[in-house]
Amino acid sequence: TINGVEFAVRDLDLAAFGRHQIRLAEHEMPGLMALRREFADQQPLRGARIAGSLHMTVQTAVLIETLVALGAEVRWVSCNIFSTQDEAAAAVVVGPNGTVDAPTGTPVFAWKGETLAEYWWCTMRLFDFGDGQGPNLIVDDGGDATLLVHKGVEFEAAGSVPAATADDHEEYQLILETLRTSLGEDGQRFTRIAAGMRGVSEETTTGVARLYELSRAGTLLFPAINVNDSVTKSKFDNKYGIRHSLTDGLNRATDVMLGGKLAVVCGYGDVGKGSAEALRGQGARVVVTEIDPICALQAAMDGLQVVALEDVVETADIFITTTGGVDIITADHMARMKHNAIVGNVGHFDNEIDMAGLARVPGVEKTEVKPQVHEWRFPDGHAILVLSEGRLMNLGNATGHPSFVMSCSFANQVLAQLELWQGEHATGVFVLPKHLDEKVARLHLDALGVRLTELTKKQAEYLGVHVEGPFKPEHYRY
Ligand code: NAI
Repeated sequence: TINGVEFAVRDLDLAAFGRHQIRLAEHEMPGLMALRREFADQQPLRGARIAGSLHMTVQTAVLIETLVALGAEVRWVSCNIFSTQDEAAAAVVVGPNGTVDAPTGTPVFAWKGETLAEYWWCTMRLFDFGDGQGPNLIVDDGGDATLLVHKGVEFEAAGSVPAATADDHEEYQLILETLRTSLGEDGQRFTRIAAGMRGVSEETTTGVARLYELSRAGTLLFPAINVNDSVTKSKFDNKYGIRHSLTDGLNRATDVMLGGKLAVVCGYGDVGKGSAEALRGQGARVVVTEIDPICALQAAMDGLQVVALEDVVETADIFITTTGGVDIITADHMARMKHNAIVGNVGHFDNEIDMAGLARVPGVEKTEVKPQVHEWRFPDGHAILVLSEGRLMNLGNATGHPSFVMSCSFANQVLAQLELWQGEHATGVFVLPKHLDEKVARLHLDALGVRLTELTKKQAEYLGVHVEGPFKPEHYRY
């Protein structure tokens, strides 16, 4: 703590570098800046205590400072051990008007290259706003902050945190350990936090899937807004964002020529579509794997061959997983790949590539080429390159999506936080109403010189919509 601002970041001296980048990002984030202009005077988030668990990048810094500009008190961590930009974290702590010696910004607990134990320690710091107060809102990406509250409440109801078993995943064991020392003196800390919680807004496909699961099981504890399925989020960030940041990560990690290479994209959802387009744009020969006949047909119609991984595992040069599923690339697959094949994941969690299985291959050797780039050599002498240890490589090996597309995502986040704070919502999972989705898009048109056609009254009546929108029915798929 310096000057009353708590933090745990790599190096506060990086703040000036971070501030330059934030300044440039603000110009590229017209949606967030418009929301600041619209709401700063009203301070509609006054009284809100927001716990944010979302990649601590330059773009996220602009989101944090927007929430603060609207009156919220905020604490922040990253939702991935490799995704923090240390200069952005430092700049947020120092704040736009503070100095390294007298920071006046927002508490951040995040640095690039956390251990898993450090990751859960940081996440725990989200819940301590001082004076025994917890957050009353969460901004989540992947659902880890929400998970911690739900597990905390579950164990408080049971009276204790269960012992880990040998079958428990390493990460779950760490969650149990983190909670064992954190339930509070009366063992009711998370129960109190959950009771005061106005809701969570969730950023990504995987986190949203977790929320619907809780909701179906009847164990969701507070309202949740599914930000991912705003059209201006998943059809933009997941697709056009990855189209930028996938190749950025590949280039920074390996600088290998992509043109002419055979690249496999596993999954042809929103992220897969953007990944395939990016690789194709570089002249790679792209093939796709899918389990869903609709997405497989889409890939085929887009001119991509749809294959089974088995068909190409020995001939492809680059493997990218985008499924949000598990065990997509196994240790056996990796053992059969070509020398120096590149393996990377851009799905939310690291279980798409069986890293644990790879480490167990007898005689396999791991060499760090540089942070987040590892050469795994098999006993027969051939090697493969694994990026970011199987975690989101567009954030681990590069700096994630660019500002402009994140302005769309984060404008949805700000509107979702306003909605949760100001509205009355039942416990359940909701998407933002279409007029707000259209508003987010509208806020990004001027910057690109888009001239929108306006419906005449007659045209609007003919289509059965209002002149000012919404323009599409709920079931329209874009
Ligand atoms: P999506 O549901 O649109 O796409 C996933 C696709 O994978 C689906 O079409 C599904 O049929 C397919 N799939 C599932 N299992 C498969 C298997 N075994 N083999 C082949 N295909 C399979 O989801 P979306 O929005 O594309 O997100 C995918 C993942 O990426 C999620 O974990 C999401 O959280 C994450 N994400 C990552 C971002 C990043 O910056 N790296 C940005 C946005 C989302």
